[in-house]
Amino acid sequence: MKIKKAVIPAAGMGTRFLPATKAMPKEMLPIVDKPTLQLVVEEIVEAGIEDILIITGRGKGAIEDHFDKSIELENLLRDKGKDEELEEVLKISSLANIFYIRQKEPLGLGHAVLCARQFVGNEPFAVLLGDDIVYADEPVIGQLAAVYDEKKNTVVGCQRVGWENVHKYGVVDTDDPEASVVKVKRLTEKPERSEAGSDLAVLGRYIIDPEIFEIIETTKPGAGGEIQLTDALNILASRQPVWAYTFEGRRYDVGDKLGFLEATVEYALRRKELSEEFKSYLTSLKD
Ligand code: G1P
Repeated sequence: MKIKKAVIPAAGMGTRFLPATKAMPKEMLPIVDKPTLQLVVEEIVEAGIEDILIITGRGKGAIEDHFDKSIELENLLRDKGKDEELEEVLKISSLANIFYIRQKEPLGLGHAVLCARQFVGNEPFAVLLGDDIVYADEPVIGQLAAVYDEKKNTVVGCQRVGWENVHKYGVVDTDDPEASVVKVKRLTEKPERSEAGSDLAVLGRYIIDPEIFEIIETTKPGAGGEIQLTDALNILASRQPVWAYTFEGRRYDVGDKLGFLEATVEYALRRKELSEEFKSYLTSLKD
């Protein structure tokens, strides 16, 4: 079954990035000149998925403005003959069919996903977290959809993160963390190093069976007192197979200051018009 719908939870408060995120949604922080959320939407569109639900919250109005038409700006760019910029701006408002719903209280990622129930209906769907962006030849969510196509069960996108980092992630317990596709035995949200079954972490990309909604409804608050998607997926894994897929690509945690800086530098170096000058600037810093 083709994956037709994607959900982007974007209601988080961005406390790791204050004060920048006091009034601005963290999803709008730019990597060079593009909001991280736009990179995530483009990944979805490249994978052939056109219906996207963004779960927002209070103070996230800039997100809707960004993906809307911007008539004054378009007219201004047209009048000034700035054709390239105009094309760029027009492209954003026609990228995909974007829908919005508000998560009224910050009760956790599991609860945010539950807000997508009506939109999703009874079919498998993609979930992408905006804190994780991945530079890859093939869009990561498309890689997961291909695995879904073969397995017909839930797939979580993973990479090894090192044992010193397991406490920050949802972690997979499996017989073979080296395998590119492997059955999940257990999922634990933010385990202590001593409790983690491996250092294979779930990194913000999922294709999920709709049975998850009924499970989330009765999932108790877990790590951080929040209703965790990982806990609901762990229950799902006890009822039907859930697969961990190690995706290809360079992943950045842009919700973290260092991860954000790494993404900024590396994306800038990939830009033709910036790379040469920026590289010589970076080289000059070594002295
Ligand atoms: C969330 C998920 C966690 C996942 C992480 C990175 O945690 O709950 O399972 O490993 O994103 O994608 P957060 O970073 O929001 O605390």
